Amino acid sequence: MTTLWIFFIFMNMDGFLKIAVCKETRDQVLIITPTTQEQVDILKNVTSQYETALWQPVSPVYMKEQAEVHLFVPGESFETVTSLLQDHDITHRVSLPNVNELIEMQTMNGTDPRSTSTFYERYHRLEDIYDWLNRTAHDNPRTVKTILVGSSHEKRPLYALKLSFSDRPNRKAMWIDCGIHAREWISPAFCLWFVHHSLSFYNYNKEITDILNNMDVYVLPVMNPDGYKYTWTTNRMWRKNRAPSHNPKCVGVDLNRNFDANWCTEGALPYPCSEIYCGAFPESEPESRAVADFLRQHKDSIQLYISIHSYSQMLLFPYSCTLEEAGNHNDLLEMVQEAARKIRTFYRSTYKYGAGAKTIYLAPGGSDDWAYDLGIKYSFTFELQDRGEYGFLLPPSRIGNACNEALTAVKTIALKVMEKT
Ligand code: ARG
Ligand code: ZN
Repeated sequence: MTTLWIFFIFMNMDGFLKIAVCKETRDQVLIITPTTQEQVDILKNVTSQYETALWQPVSPVYMKEQAEVHLFVPGESFETVTSLLQDHDITHRVSLPNVNELIEMQTMNGTDPRSTSTFYERYHRLEDIYDWLNRTAHDNPRTVKTILVGSSHEKRPLYALKLSFSDRPNRKAMWIDCGIHAREWISPAFCLWFVHHSLSFYNYNKEITDILNNMDVYVLPVMNPDGYKYTWTTNRMWRKNRAPSHNPKCVGVDLNRNFDANWCTEGALPYPCSEIYCGAFPESEPESRAVADFLRQHKDSIQLYISIHSYSQMLLFPYSCTLEEAGNHNDLLEMVQEAARKIRTFYRSTYKYGAGAKTIYLAPGGSDDWAYDLGIKYSFTFELQDRGEYGFLLPPSRIGNACNEALTAVKTIALKVMEKT
C-alpha cells in the first residue's frame, strides 16, 4: 500500500455539500537496478530533476549498470518517479515503505516509558550529546578531558574527549572521529558507545585495558554539528556541512572531500549543489581544518586514525584518492581481514574490506588518506551497519549490535598497531 486516499466532506459558503479528494503518498525508499547505459542515464536524470535523496551511491556520477541504487523518494515525487521508472522498464522495488515511522522511531528516543533501552541504545539530538560530553568529563575528572578542537561554520564547538588512563611518558595515541556526514546517525552513537565501553570496562575487559594502558584516545563524537543538527530539525537526509556557497540555492561542502589528498579530482565535484562538493579549496571548511590542525599538532603521538561512517559494512584503508597501493598495504589488509573475521565469528555479520578506491570507488579529499600521508600509517574508515535494509534509518534496537561489531574492529586493529610499533 503506497497511496492513501483522503476524502474531505465539507459544506460550502452557499450551503452545498462538497467532496474533495486528495491523494497522499508517503516518503519511501526504492531499490533500483538499471541494466543498460540508457537506463543509467535516465536514472541520473530522475535523481537530479526530482526532489529525491540518493542513499547509494552518494552521487549520480557513481551510477553504473547492474549496480543497485538506493533512492529516498519523498511522497510528493513518488508517483512521478515510479511512473518514469515503469515507463522505461527499470527494475525497482520499495525497500522501505514506512520511512516516516522509522524516522519517528529514531527520534522518539526513550520517551516511550515501556522502553528498556539504555542511553547508549538511542540516538541523541546535538544538545544532548553536548550535555553528555560535559557530564562524562565532569564525572571522570582523572581520566577524561574535553578538548575544544575548533568550531563549525555556524560557530558550534567541536569538542573531543581525551581518554587518558596511563601516565607513562611518551605514550602513543589514537584518534576516532564520528559524524563527518550528518545523516549517518549510527556514527556519533558509536563514539558515545566507545567512550562508555572504555570507562565501564577498563580493568574488567583485557583488550580495552591493554589498549588504554598503552595509548590515549581522542574521540570527536560529532565532527559536523551543523549538519547533524539540521538532520534533526529540517532534513533527515542531509550529508554535508551547512556552509553557504556562491549559489544561494546550494548549501554545504562534503567534509570527506575537503581534505588535501588529490583534492577535487575524480570522485569529487567542484559544484556546490553536488553531495560530493569538495569546497573552494582544501581545508576550506572550519570543521575539516580544525581536525587537520589537531592531527598536525599531534602527529608524533597519534599512530592510529579511525573515521566512522555508515552504511554498507566495510573496513577501508588508504588509498581512496588513487588506485595506487599504500606502502604498508599488506599490514593494513591483514588488520582489517582479522577484524572482519572476528566480526563474522562473534556477530555473524559480513564486512567487506580493502583499500577504499578498489573496494568502493575513487573518492579523493578524504580524511583517512590525508591522515595517512601526514604520517599516521594506520588509518581507516569504517562503514557500519547495515547493508541497505534500513540504511541511514537503522532502528535504535540495532544500535547495540552495530556498535559492538565496530568496537570489535577498533580493538582488534588497535591491538595489532601496538604489536607493530
Ligand atoms: N562513503 C565514504 C565517503 O564517500 C567512503 C570514505 C572512504 N574514504 C575516503 N577517503 N573516501 O566519503
Ligand atoms: Zn559517510
